[in-house]
Amino acid sequence: MTERKGIILAGGTGSRLHPITMGVSKQLLPVYDKPMIYYPLSVLMLAGIKEIAVITNPEYMQQFQRLLGDGSNWGLSLTYIEQPSPDGLAQAYLLAEDFLNGSASAMVLGDNVFYGHGFKSLLREASSQAVGGTVFGYRVSDPERYGVVSYDETGKARHIEEKPENPKSNYAVTGLYFLDNKASERARYIEPSARGELEITSLLSAYLEEDQLNVQRMGRGYAWLDTGTFGSLLDAGNFVRTLQARQGLQVGCPEEIAFENGWITRDDLLAAGKNAEKNDYGKYLIRLAEMVAR
Ligand code: DAU
Repeated sequence: MTERKGIILAGGTGSRLHPITMGVSKQLLPVYDKPMIYYPLSVLMLAGIKEIAVITNPEYMQQFQRLLGDGSNWGLSLTYIEQPSPDGLAQAYLLAEDFLNGSASAMVLGDNVFYGHGFKSLLREASSQAVGGTVFGYRVSDPERYGVVSYDETGKARHIEEKPENPKSNYAVTGLYFLDNKASERARYIEPSARGELEITSLLSAYLEEDQLNVQRMGRGYAWLDTGTFGSLLDAGNFVRTLQARQGLQVGCPEEIAFENGWITRDDLLAAGKNAEKNDYGKYLIRLAEMVAR
């Protein structure tokens, strides 16, 4: 099997956050001390994925490129793909078909923030599954806003519905999808929904119908945060700030993960720190580098 590749879907109109997102892409907004996209990028890096495509609106692509470059600073290879109009999450698999070139993938939404103990193992386990897919069910109080999974009496996932009026469970499907190398092909057979989008839940349902989808529960010890409203965006920032201040450890720091993964050297880490040495982010990277013997 070829290596699993990553996709960060960072397009969309961001209309729920107007006027903030009228001049800038949602996924570039700050979540406390980092651009939002650092958090989902870190998720793919924790999963051990180095080859990643960032899918954006044509008008914002340059801004993402300015921020992330070709990824080599973090030992990554980044590719940029345009999504001309926001026609749905599953369209990402059509747009990324050439990039994937027959590989399995992990797609994460550019506005999803995850945090929890043991996350790396959860990701690595999902990533090691060559056939079918893995997605994560997370208990929320407002499931009607998400893709919702319903379970039968044995606890097996049976259906996934997009934003149902009467949700059959409280489990939302998070924006992180590990799918095998059939995803692009399957996405071709999806019909647009009533709202005119190629829904990710339609693609997942196709996997589920063939018993090819593992819906793993992400327990209450994890935080899966929303950034879709003014309040939840601020809450996510405060969450990150609280944890970082208490622990003195960073949440979603690509340099740190790249270093842990052995993708960049101590000198690279130090150089990245020096770029931002006037603030706590840079100081953190310098401290990390100094903790490691030369
Ligand atoms: O966050 C998890 C949820 O994400 C899932 O539970 C749902 O099944 C899934 O449909 C999605 O629901 P949302 O209502 O959050 O989707 P939204 O339209 O807000 O898009 C999610 C992100 O993807 C957002 O940052 C914008 C981006 N996007 C969206 C569309 C439709 C794109 O980049 N391209 C698109 O075509």
